[in-house]
Amino acid sequence: MEKILTGDFTTTAIGAALEAGEHLKKGFGTHFGISSKEGKQNLVTDYDYLCQDLIIKRIRHHFPSHHVLAEENPDMDVSHKEVTWIVDPLDGTVNFAKSIPFFAVSIAVSIAGEIVVGVVYNPLSAELFVAQKGKGALLNGQLLSVSKIKQFEEAFVATGFPYNVARNPLHCIDCFAHMAKLGVPLRRLGAAALDLAYVAAGRFDAFWEVGLHPWDMAAGKLLIEEAGGQVSDYEGAPHRVFGYLPLVATNGHLHDQLLDTIKETM
Ligand code: IPD
Ligand code: CA
Ligand code: CA
Repeated sequence: MEKILTGDFTTTAIGAALEAGEHLKKGFGTHFGISSKEGKQNLVTDYDYLCQDLIIKRIRHHFPSHHVLAEENPDMDVSHKEVTWIVDPLDGTVNFAKSIPFFAVSIAVSIAGEIVVGVVYNPLSAELFVAQKGKGALLNGQLLSVSKIKQFEEAFVATGFPYNVARNPLHCIDCFAHMAKLGVPLRRLGAAALDLAYVAAGRFDAFWEVGLHPWDMAAGKLLIEEAGGQVSDYEGAPHRVFGYLPLVATNGHLHDQLLDTIKETM
């Protein structure tokens, strides 16, 4: 029964991600409305709202009783529903707003707090990442596996900064500087859902960020776990999806080494 349901969820999540992705593709590089949220650099565009609306419409059409937690009007009280959809209609909004071709749609489904489906879609590269709990992670239908690198000295690592980076939460600036001084090749691409999907695909060996919301990381977390990797908080404890939390994601071999390196700046 659960398998059938999970399959239905996956079909709906893929359909919604592809539909939203088509709109993003058409809108990319055109003129559209852009405004600021809490911070000056925290942007939201007409396309964040448009895509969120159509994704929620699809979910409600198929599963009217399900709870939806979506970035642009988040109802964080997930306790009252067994099934929750977690939606980032446009991850990498600043990239999209500045015509930088690196952004994605991210949709996940959680049952009783456990992520069972994760879909990340990059419409410009036509890359569809799909994970189902216990069934592996796929990129355009091909099975994904994390990288096999065992030494942190050899790792290619991505990170992200929160919008309040200037306040240096959990010494995130010092942590970045520390990694750079160690000579770690670092990337900051600006779309956490894709960064995580890239770890699942073995393109990055690891990723960390001091604060992510459920919609940034829920789908990516399942992709990595199903591709054989590991996701935790800064203490190494399993990551709790529903909150604004630090996140460390690796191919598994590098996990303790990355945690230790982060701790050196705490
Ligand atoms: C942001 C991106 C960015 C990450 C931020 C997120 P948004 O999401 O994923 O890479 O560093 O923490 O908030 O605002 O583009 O959906
Ligand atoms: Ca996001
Ligand atoms: Ca977003």
